[in-house]
Amino acid sequence: MKRNVQEEVAKLISEMTIEEKVAQTSQLAYTQMPKERAEEYARKGVGSFLHVLGDDAKHLQDLATSNGKKIPLIFGIDAIHGHCLKKNATVFPTQLSMACSFNTELVEQMADATAKEVAADGLHWTFSPVLCLGRDIRWGRVAETFGEDKYLAGELGSAMVRGYQGDDLSADGKILACAKHYIGYGEATGARDSYDTEVTYRKVRAEFLPPFERVVKDGCASIMTAYGAIDGIPCTANKKLMTDILKTELGFEGFVVTDWDNVRHLIRKQCVAENFEDASEIALNSGNDMMMKTEDYIEAAVRLVKEGRVDESVLDEAVRRILTAKMELGLFDNPYKRLDESVIGAAEHQQLSYELAKECVVLLKNEDVLPLKKDEKCKKIVVIGCNADSVRDMYGDWTYFTHPDPNFDAEPVRPYVTFIEGMLGLKDDFNCEIVHAKGCGILENDEAQLDEAFKLIADSDLVVYTFGDDIYQTGEAKDRADMSLTKAQGEVFDRLTKTGKPIVSVMIASKPMCVPEIVENSKAFLTAFNPGAYGGKVLAETVFGLNNPCGKLPISFPNHVGQQPCYYNYLPGWHCKKYVDMPQRPLFVFGEGLSYTKFEYSDVAFDKDSLTLSVKVKNVGERAGKEIIQVYFRDVVSSVITPVKQLIAFKKIELASGEAQEYKFTFTEKDFSLVLPDERRVMEKGELEVMVGASSDDESLIKICFVQDKTVEIK
Ligand code: NOJ
Repeated sequence: MKRNVQEEVAKLISEMTIEEKVAQTSQLAYTQMPKERAEEYARKGVGSFLHVLGDDAKHLQDLATSNGKKIPLIFGIDAIHGHCLKKNATVFPTQLSMACSFNTELVEQMADATAKEVAADGLHWTFSPVLCLGRDIRWGRVAETFGEDKYLAGELGSAMVRGYQGDDLSADGKILACAKHYIGYGEATGARDSYDTEVTYRKVRAEFLPPFERVVKDGCASIMTAYGAIDGIPCTANKKLMTDILKTELGFEGFVVTDWDNVRHLIRKQCVAENFEDASEIALNSGNDMMMKTEDYIEAAVRLVKEGRVDESVLDEAVRRILTAKMELGLFDNPYKRLDESVIGAAEHQQLSYELAKECVVLLKNEDVLPLKKDEKCKKIVVIGCNADSVRDMYGDWTYFTHPDPNFDAEPVRPYVTFIEGMLGLKDDFNCEIVHAKGCGILENDEAQLDEAFKLIADSDLVVYTFGDDIYQTGEAKDRADMSLTKAQGEVFDRLTKTGKPIVSVMIASKPMCVPEIVENSKAFLTAFNPGAYGGKVLAETVFGLNNPCGKLPISFPNHVGQQPCYYNYLPGWHCKKYVDMPQRPLFVFGEGLSYTKFEYSDVAFDKDSLTLSVKVKNVGERAGKEIIQVYFRDVVSSVITPVKQLIAFKKIELASGEAQEYKFTFTEKDFSLVLPDERRVMEKGELEVMVGASSDDESLIKICFVQDKTVEIK
């Protein structure tokens, strides 16, 4: 019989003590306490644990469901690009890497596969997707984002939520999504992790809220608050953000969880509360439903409710949201709900990781050198660089090498294919000799090893230079001030350029680096950021032309770190538009990416009544290929300064050589809107410019204008 969730939840709450209710609003970190303490908390009816795997989860569930009100636990995990805190799970490309695909279907499938692997461990909830924007590459967590654009983040985030949750949370293999970090986390001053964010609420609504709005519409089950603060108010203490905007205005029906120990941070880091009672009062009254990792919250909150500093109805509302999610997941019917373990790392998930990685490769420069051909010019290839054979740097952050506790020396578990393995796998087919010389580390050089490497290069036809960053340089609290090539890698590259050999550069890095010298001195340049288990295979297949690259950049590459922040949708008004010592154009712009074929855009028309754009795209090259059509708009004259262009649609298409098709995009007034100083959203009257083409670069866009004759308020 179908449950009447709200009725049952209300009844259960009416039978619970204050202690039991507070316990439900607490999530504890399993790896941060002795096992016996965790067991005690499970018996006392704590709401959730994070970072528990497999049998340990089952054991805690036994305790929770055989004591007190027997409410099942909900287990959370950071399954960020696959369930990869678990060793044999499928490792997908990182979020920034998968954003290069602009492929919502594949991203949805990857989330569906991840949900199954998480569910096979008896877990129910992933802290994903990340909807922060990566607008300053110094920030340590840029690799976790979908890049710099709010629309792309919203579309891909929505695809992920659909993949994790499906239409029915109680179905086998479905888990709760958690959109994070709410809000403005990526925008912290100076890209300093978790620091204050100097933005107005107008800007929050215009730039950072839209992706969250998008997933709230999809029924995203939970949202995590950011560590940072907006205009001096920590996000975890921010009633306006959590209660007024998220829950009341947007109608968010799921539950809000704080980030790791945020309640303590209100005291120890942000200094807005003196003690746990004050901090817990602020946290509950501003709209958090579950507090992550702060054990001291529990006793403090019980006292607060008993003393009336927090109204019991506030606590009840938090518990209602949590219990509703548990019931909708089906945990009250079966607290041990799980899929068979054989789905973890299953062959079809590995295949999906490979298919997705193929679409994440972005070719950014190609002076007629790629794809390599089976000919005399390519008899001996030397692959040089340490990331060519590094599974850790192929994976990036949030795998068993980095979490829950860093374990960089963990034994890697197959299957995976590093870049050199991918290259070697193709040498017979291409009838060439391929050798690998590490040449250097990310940070240090070994002169003897280097000399050895350069001996190999002497009689080679081509060098593939593999450079990047490593997992010590990316992630939480790993912000960087210098984004150029490390000294060690730079020395190798300088020496390489002196050999006069043609160089193909492959960047295996978590996020863009400032490397104009590499781009200038290489015949070709490509990357897929951290492309996951099959990254090495797809990069090698791209070099040899078995994969036609079709990824585009979800983030700009600055020439120099001093250009930060530098994103395509900047505001007009900078008098000189550039630093005197820097080119205006970033090294690579948002949306940029080449293919081994060519696409031509024509026949652009815009119908003002139906707000529909049509465009014809033709594959004018010699092989089939995929393209990402991008549509931008600009409000030509607006009452507040608006960006020079903003992405409002994209479509991934595939065309055979010589094939042409017409594509249509229909918009709503909201797509052309802006946010006023009083925080209302309107589409203003006047001239609007719509642009369509292959990247955000003006030169690749066809522009068309229309006039809107009245201002319309958007609800
Ligand atoms: C802190 C991170 O900011 C967040 O993204 C993550 O989900 C939690 N820790 C749990 O590991």
